[in-house]
Amino acid sequence: MEKKNLDWSALSFSYQPTDYRFVAHYRNGAWDEGGLVTDATCTMSESAGVLQYAQTCFEGLKAYTTKDGKIVCFRPDLNAKRLQDSAERLLIPPVPTELFLKAVDEVVKANAAWVPPYGTGATLYIRPFVFGNGPVIGVAPAPEYEFRVFVTPVGPYFKGGIKPLRLLLSQYDRAAPHGTGHIKAGLNYAMSLYPGYVAKLQGYSENMYLDAATRTKVEETGGANFVFVTDDNMIVTPKSDTILPSITRRSLLYVAEHYLGLKVVERVVKYDELRNFKECGLCGTAAVISPVGEIDTPDGTIRFKSGMEKMGEVCAKLRETLTGIQSGEIEAPEGWIRVICED
Ligand code: PLP
Ligand code: COI
Repeated sequence: MEKKNLDWSALSFSYQPTDYRFVAHYRNGAWDEGGLVTDATCTMSESAGVLQYAQTCFEGLKAYTTKDGKIVCFRPDLNAKRLQDSAERLLIPPVPTELFLKAVDEVVKANAAWVPPYGTGATLYIRPFVFGNGPVIGVAPAPEYEFRVFVTPVGPYFKGGIKPLRLLLSQYDRAAPHGTGHIKAGLNYAMSLYPGYVAKLQGYSENMYLDAATRTKVEETGGANFVFVTDDNMIVTPKSDTILPSITRRSLLYVAEHYLGLKVVERVVKYDELRNFKECGLCGTAAVISPVGEIDTPDGTIRFKSGMEKMGEVCAKLRETLTGIQSGEIEAPEGWIRVICED
């Protein structure tokens, strides 16, 4: 397979159109079988549900080239399920798992020339999404929908790769109790743009959000979940009904317990216990696991013991093991890796 002529190791996390995308439509009460197209634009009614009332949800996963030259993706069945959960909450007809997996397989295979080679540190980001493209004007679900999957080659989500990040404790809320924080709805990201802009203007990489009801419990950032490490190397991660159930986090907890022999606990994490942790990491498909060195708050700066120079030891071990599994250097648990094609 002849690859595109890109400087793979220098890629940032940005959109670059590739050759093919997959499109399916929901009309008259059913999804059609869909197929590959080359047009990177969407055409729809000016009164489309997505344009008027933000009726859209999405997913993010990656394809990797393994050491032995296969193109694989990581736990796509979990993304299919989460997209269905998101869709149900937004009255979008759920995309069947078989259609989701077929779309991912076909679009990755068709864009194999864009899949970054093994060892470059880059990956192919896969963005499945579904939106109301039929017209509405009263507040109501759209009559028709589009499911689309595109791919784009990416490097690290945070500039500077895996250098420790500085976060801001946000004065804004991300998700209301009983709201939509637990699904991957576009609206959650629209409302995080302004707080994200404010944080970035001040030189921070991201916001830490607290629970909206009491502002005493740690939730997540705009695009990743938290994991913390205690002095005795236990992994602690926030339990909350208003954060996105990260697939990376679920995988890291398994890796910590079954590959590294660490204790893991998912529990409420209080804002005022943050200073006790030795390490802090942001986990997600885009972030993988990115170290946090400091969090600025109105009560002063919280500095994790791992510092601002390099990633803490436990986070580094977690990252190395997870990326090793994804690139075929370390044996994966049953069912985690879906082989799409040979390179
Ligand atoms: N939390 C939010 C708000 C996200 O946008 C993401 C990214 O998808 C995550 C957490 C991490 O989820 P995952 O590991 O499934 O990518
Ligand atoms: C991801 O990790 O896939 C995300 O969706 C995070 C961000 C790009 C929204």
